[in-house]
Amino acid sequence: MPKNDNINRIIDHKLFTEDDIHQMCVRLGKQLTEDYAGKKPLIVGALKGAIFFLTDLVREMDVEEEIDFMDVSSYGDGFVSSGKVDLITDLTTDVKDRDVLIVEDIVDTGLTLKYMKDMLKERGAKSVKCCVLLNKEANRATDVEIEYYGSKVGNEFVVGYGLDFMNAFRNIKYIGVLKPEVIKLADNK
Ligand code: PRP
Repeated sequence: MPKNDNINRIIDHKLFTEDDIHQMCVRLGKQLTEDYAGKKPLIVGALKGAIFFLTDLVREMDVEEEIDFMDVSSYGDGFVSSGKVDLITDLTTDVKDRDVLIVEDIVDTGLTLKYMKDMLKERGAKSVKCCVLLNKEANRATDVEIEYYGSKVGNEFVVGYGLDFMNAFRNIKYIGVLKPEVIKLADNK
């Protein structure tokens, strides 16, 4: 079946167009350029969802930067956070005395971000902030500061632009809301 047929079957409606996302990257990139002027931040991308946002965001930042990735997971293949965060793949960069900027696609319970922030601070980072594309506050389970974000979102299942549904559909260029019946079907499998 052609890929587009599958997308139309699972997406209820578009939430953010490619242009909306681009405008968010431009605004955030400008702000980060000002705030990190004269510094050399270490940009930490949270695999895998954040890679699309990270590559667009850093190209809107006019600062000397270094990029590294870590894979931290609290969901596995499920739809609800397990509440337990696992470090799957660590950074290769020493964060001691570095200004670290974590880049995430979405913050939901906040547990993943809190785990990463605490770990990087414990390792001696000079500063640890985050830039998140989507800030979903409805299920927040921990107190974690979101220094920069693109947009708030409601309690909907969002896919595309890095955000997956059952480990697929990350390459949709826009961000869409999944049809509720698709989640129900997948839950019952
Ligand atoms: C997603 C997302 C965040 C995390 C947010 O990652 O990319 O890292 O969940 O959820 P939380 O605020 O409830 O902790 P996921 O574990 O699904 O991995 P992925 O990026 O590889 O899709």
